[in-house]
Amino acid sequence: MQYEEFRKAGHSLIDYITDYLQQAQNKPLFKDVEPSFLNDLFNESIPNNPQSLESIQKILEEKLLPYCTHVNHPGYMGLITPSPNPAGILGDLLAAALNQNLGAYSIGPSATAMELRVIRWLNDLIGYDEKAGGNLTSGGMMANFIGLKLARDFTTGDVAQHEGLHGKWAVYVSEERHVSIDKSVDAIGLGRNNLRSLPTDDRFQLKIDALEEAIAKDKAEGIKTLCIIGLAGTTNLGAVDDLEALHRIAVREQCWFHVDAAYGGGMLLSHQNKNLLKGLHLADSVTIDPHKWFYAPLDCGAILVKDHDRLPRSFGIQHAYLTDQSERKNERYQFYVNGFEQSKRFRSLKVWMSFQHYGRDKIGEWVDNNVEQAKYLHNLAAGSKDFESATEPKMSAICIRYTGEGLTNEELTKLHIAVADRIEKEGKFWFATTILKGKTWFRINPVNIYTTIETMKALFDTLQAYCKEAAGEKA
Ligand SMILES: Cc1ncc(COP(=O)(O)O)c(C=O)c1O
Repeated sequence: MQYEEFRKAGHSLIDYITDYLQQAQNKPLFKDVEPSFLNDLFNESIPNNPQSLESIQKILEEKLLPYCTHVNHPGYMGLITPSPNPAGILGDLLAAALNQNLGAYSIGPSATAMELRVIRWLNDLIGYDEKAGGNLTSGGMMANFIGLKLARDFTTGDVAQHEGLHGKWAVYVSEERHVSIDKSVDAIGLGRNNLRSLPTDDRFQLKIDALEEAIAKDKAEGIKTLCIIGLAGTTNLGAVDDLEALHRIAVREQCWFHVDAAYGGGMLLSHQNKNLLKGLHLADSVTIDPHKWFYAPLDCGAILVKDHDRLPRSFGIQHAYLTDQSERKNERYQFYVNGFEQSKRFRSLKVWMSFQHYGRDKIGEWVDNNVEQAKYLHNLAAGSKDFESATEPKMSAICIRYTGEGLTNEELTKLHIAVADRIEKEGKFWFATTILKGKTWFRINPVNIYTTIETMKALFDTLQAYCKEAAGEKA
């Protein structure tokens, strides 16, 4: 190993990253090139001619960087991927160097202590007591999957881990769920046909009477309730279900109550609206993604569990090669018997460093700024005769649409997609489109430290101009 070359290349890379972060706002946010062009750029066989790290950085500057989606650009307000906070970026660099493997205590004793502490912080934010536990995961998808597995094992009296599912069961959730729920009911062996997708009201919250009806109908057919899932921050709109009502029903049905707060968990840091996730602590398990609204770089999701004991019950298999021989094994926390993953990235370091460097209040300020930006856009749309907003945002996710008098629903769908495409090509903003209650919307969702009110105003001006132009071409 050439340590001096590493040092020099490392300094150069950090300089490059610093300039990159400072200048991201001047770059085209998204470069519209053909995927085949990018595949061709990297079309080479396994290299066998060693190159200096310096020359490799040059190649990356030419081939990789220009074609990245710059989530550090203030105009990035798309699928939930934050502008990563700089302290967190350094945390991940160090984590790679240390390469602690959180699967087993022996490959990361201090890292295990840090991981447990960060999990404790998340449990404190939820309001869970000392009995709680959890795992940091690759993201909300894995966290929801683990939540559903915990549900299956608990509700079947710890039989399903060994025998699979016997009998007929159903899981209940609103139509606004993230697709990870659908994948999870499949993965735990329940089958997607046994996921009840329930309607929402005009605030996009699960209708409690619809849930009651669905449970009653299933009961009449001998189908039992495996899990009720509450959403605390829907992907489209940041809507929050009535968690207290869902908990009451889950207690009555003696089933597991899981809450998906993958995105909405950021509101636990908010100074403005502390009560929005009322009842979250009643859940048996909660998904929260620090790599969403805690502005941590990917990847770091979390599954938090009210009763830690449920983790070894679901995952506590010990193989001979993993057994800790130490006499002090009871003091050594082993994630491998308390979670799904074996080799496990040191995810907590970047989250720990973010809190240490900025403090909880500062991160909460970033969250509140993003909420304010969404509300500002809502007011612009609601105040315009040409636009509507799906609902007043409670978080930073907002859906607005051009109402286009005289245009059919199909024409409006095409218009929204064409305008979003045009804006993507220009590289000043990036947001998604979505479908809500049968209509197409622009889905705009700043989880971004660099977005400002001015960014939102510029975005709305652009949307107004381009939608009118597109409608004019149609007419
Ligand atoms: C509510 C919700 N749950 C789960 C997920 C999945 O999270 P991840 O992409 O981190 O796997 C998302 C992603 O946007 C989400 O919005």
